[in-house]
Order: sequence, then structure tokens, then C-alpha cells
Amino acid sequence: MNQKINPFRRRFVLQAGLGITALGLPAIVSGRNNTVINSVSNHFKADVEIELTATATDVQILTQGPKTRVLKYFGKLLKGPENTLYQLPGSYLGPTFRLIQGQKVRIIFNNHLRQPSIAHWHGLHVPQKSDGHPMYAIENGQRYVYEFEVLNRAGTSFYHSHTHGMTATQVYQGLAGLITVSDEEESELGLPDGEFDMPLIIQDKSFTYSNQLRYLHGRHQRMTGFLGDKIIVNGKADTRFKVKSRAYRFRVLNASNSRIYKLAWDDGTPLIAIGTDAGLLPKPVTRPYLMLAPGERLELWVDFSDRAIGSTMTLRNLPFSGAMPSMMHGMGGGMGMMRGHRQGMSGLSESFEIAQFTVKHKVSDSPRLPDKLVTMQRWSSQKADPNRVIPIGLSMGPMSARLNGMSFSMNRVMDYEKVPLNSYQKLKIFHQRGGHGRMGMLMNMAHPIHLHGQQYQILSRDTSGMSQSAYESVKDGFIDHGWKDTVLVMPGQEIEIIKPFQDYQGLFLYHCHNLEHEDMGMMRQFYVG
Ligand code: C2O
Ligand code: CU
Ligand code: CU
Repeated sequence: MNQKINPFRRRFVLQAGLGITALGLPAIVSGRNNTVINSVSNHFKADVEIELTATATDVQILTQGPKTRVLKYFGKLLKGPENTLYQLPGSYLGPTFRLIQGQKVRIIFNNHLRQPSIAHWHGLHVPQKSDGHPMYAIENGQRYVYEFEVLNRAGTSFYHSHTHGMTATQVYQGLAGLITVSDEEESELGLPDGEFDMPLIIQDKSFTYSNQLRYLHGRHQRMTGFLGDKIIVNGKADTRFKVKSRAYRFRVLNASNSRIYKLAWDDGTPLIAIGTDAGLLPKPVTRPYLMLAPGERLELWVDFSDRAIGSTMTLRNLPFSGAMPSMMHGMGGGMGMMRGHRQGMSGLSESFEIAQFTVKHKVSDSPRLPDKLVTMQRWSSQKADPNRVIPIGLSMGPMSARLNGMSFSMNRVMDYEKVPLNSYQKLKIFHQRGGHGRMGMLMNMAHPIHLHGQQYQILSRDTSGMSQSAYESVKDGFIDHGWKDTVLVMPGQEIEIIKPFQDYQGLFLYHCHNLEHEDMGMMRQFYVG
């Protein structure tokens, strides 16, 4: 049943200097320090060329005291429109890439870290060789060249480290940044732009007394995933923003390792969503609150037009239940500090502030929220391969997290993970009864499941297995009719999706975006071909 497809071991590749391609995949060329891995191709005429360098540096994250040592992506635009890169001032986050549909992009990635690394463009539909598969991780002093055309529609994506076994620590230490894609259909909508098109990148971190990043508070956090005690927005602990009395487009990204947020305005103002993951919605959606799991994005329309000068709106996390394993209840929260308790003693189900917006300037005009946004064709399950439903079974066991009972393996693909190129597939994501191993069942918890490649659509979300209290606390928080690449699957939920596998042959990952789970092996890959 399972078949060895590829001797794609990085060490093997480095020693041999050549990737063997059992499946006719592109070879990668490598060598020792300062060599180029996967070099520039001459026939690819780049419209945009970015040099991206990962390196350790010190950044002022907290408002007081010493700087914090981080890992950061530095960007340099070598070619392309001059506003392609935007660096959030003073942030450890990498520069925002502002891409346009149809552009040909070349990214030259330099690893200046004392550890292997590779970057992945989460949400973008790119060839295997340019997708940041961990088999392409490069060592200090090496460079990796990515080349792809922007096939995505307008939406919000992001990039982050995808180094197997080190994704969680590298992202935690700073290796992430935003990607926006714009297209013609979007530009006709006249959505807020420039300073009014604002990222809201939410992360949670913990700090030592000397302002250095602290990671994992013990064994149970390895299972639940890292939960910090301080909210960082756009790379800063100071999460107070000054705004003008008009409408904004907020691109909200949960770039936390494992924390799931239930977002709401403190004064009961509903949230207005205009986009999910890497795509705009057909029309705006109004909800009292919205769930946002690691890897997910939400675009919000936030209108301060009627607000008085000096007034403040606060975006909060609201309590919810059902996401954490029952055996760990009350153990792994980590937001304790904010509530004046000892750290690590409170559950996820708590209320805390995420960001504050104070209206500082009166302006007279503001764009209006369009009734309709973009055309989006809904796919029925008929569109998918009729003879199969690809299973993605989620399970936890002692110190492990798995997909269909298996851990990640760089060079293996199961039969059911082989997908014909240019097909649509129906996939079913569910919690495997009983988990795996002793106590597995008690470790059942929420998992945000991400699939590389094209955006998918959610066909159904069955919540019948949820407890009443959990269901009540999250039921209005999911927007399931938009474009998605990451979906939160709460315990007791079962989700069916339909996904196209078009354009590119090769290996494409799917995994839990709880980064501790991903590193523990809760990742597999499809072979498209
Ligand atoms: Cu955002 Cu495979 O990752
Ligand atoms: Cu991804
Ligand atoms: Cu998980």
C-alpha cells in the first residue's frame, strides 16, 4: 500500500550534489557554502525580483527595556514596482510583499542563520520547487532561488519558515511576513488602500526578565502547542493604534504558533468580513465574532466614520470552549499573566485585549462598503472525482500528533495521497475516534488543517459531535463559503472540502498549522501527477 517514491533526503542531496528524481521531478543542484541551490533559470523573465535574507538581529519589541534577539527576514527589491516591499517600522516581521496577479516573481533566499531554513509562501499556488518544501532547506551561507507566476486572485497570504522540526521555533523567533495579492476585479471595488489597508498580524509570545523570547513551558505545551502570555501585533507589544474617522481594510493574520482567537469588538459592534484566507468574499459578512486559527486570515472592513475624536474601539479575544484536550483542562492556557495570575494556570477560555484603535483625526470622506465584492463560483461535490474521498484523520497520542495515523516522512506518499494532475478532489477531515496510543482519546483537540497549493472550498461542516457548550461558544465564528487554505476543525466537527490540484506536478504538503503539531509530525504530502 505505501510506496517509496523518492530518495529526497536533504543530506543525500547535499552529498551527491544532485537530487534524484524518481518521479520526474525537477532536480535541485547544491553544494557547500556560498553555493546556489536551485539556480536562476534563464527562460524565466522576472517582473519582480526580491532578495530575502534570514538573519539573527535585535529588535525593540517590548515598550521598555532591552531589545529582543529575533530571527528576521530582510528584504531587498532588485527589480519591480518600487512599492513591492513594505517594512512595518521597527518590526521583526519580514517586509510585506505586495504582489499583483500575473507578475512573474523571483525570490533569492539567503540563509544567514546558524541552522537550516527554507521559506514557504502560504496561500500562494506555486510549483513544488518554489513552495518551500522542507526537503529544500538550505544551510548557512547557501541561497535558494524561487520562481513563480502569481496565479492567485486578490487576497492575503503570508510567508514563513517551513524547516521541518524547526518551523515552530523559527516562526516563533520571527521568521514570517505578509503577502498581499491584488488583481483587477479587486481594484474596481475601491477598497481602502495605502495607510488604510492595514495589516493586523497577531502573535502570542513570552519573554524573560531580560526581554528575551521564551519558548514552551513544559511537556503539556508540546502537546497543546505553545501559548504565550503576551499579545504582539505587527511585531510590537504596543498594540494601540491611531486611526482616522473613516473606513479601513484590516488584513488580520493569525501568525501565532498555536493560539486560536475568537475575535470581537468590545462594545458589541459586529465584525464585517470581506475576505477569508487568500480570497475576497462574494459579499460582506456580518458576525458578532469570528474564529481565527493559526495560519488563517480574515479581511475585515472596519469603519470609524461615525466615531468621535478620542473614542477607542478594542478588539478582544472572547472566551470559548472545546478546543483544548479534556485531560489538559486548566493546564495550558498561558494568558495567566494578563489576568494577574501565575503563568500557565488558566485555560484558553479567557477574555483579553488584542488591539486598541483610537480615532485621532477627523476626515470628511470615506469609501463605502460595497454590497457585492467579487464573483465566486461555488463548486458542488459533483465536480470532484466521483470515486474517492480522500481522508484526513486527525489524532493525538502521547507526545505525537498524526494524520491518518501516520507521521511525516520526507520521501513517502500513500496511495490515497496520490492525486491526478488537473483534478478536483473531495477530502474529509475528521477526528479519528480514540486518537492513537494510550489516552489518545483524551487528547482530542482543535487542529487548523492547511493544504498547500490552490485555495479550496468547504462543502460542509458537521458539528453534530460537538458538546452543546462548545458549539454554542463558537457556532457563529466560521465563514465557510469563502476561499480557504486553512480550516479549523474543532473536536466533534467533521469537514468536507473540495480542492483543485491543477497546474503543477509534484509534492504538496498538508498539515496541522498548530506549529508544534506540525513539527511533531502532523504533516503529510500529496503527490500530484
Ligand atoms: Cu503556513 Cu505548510 O504552511
Ligand atoms: Cu502553506
Ligand atoms: Cu494540530
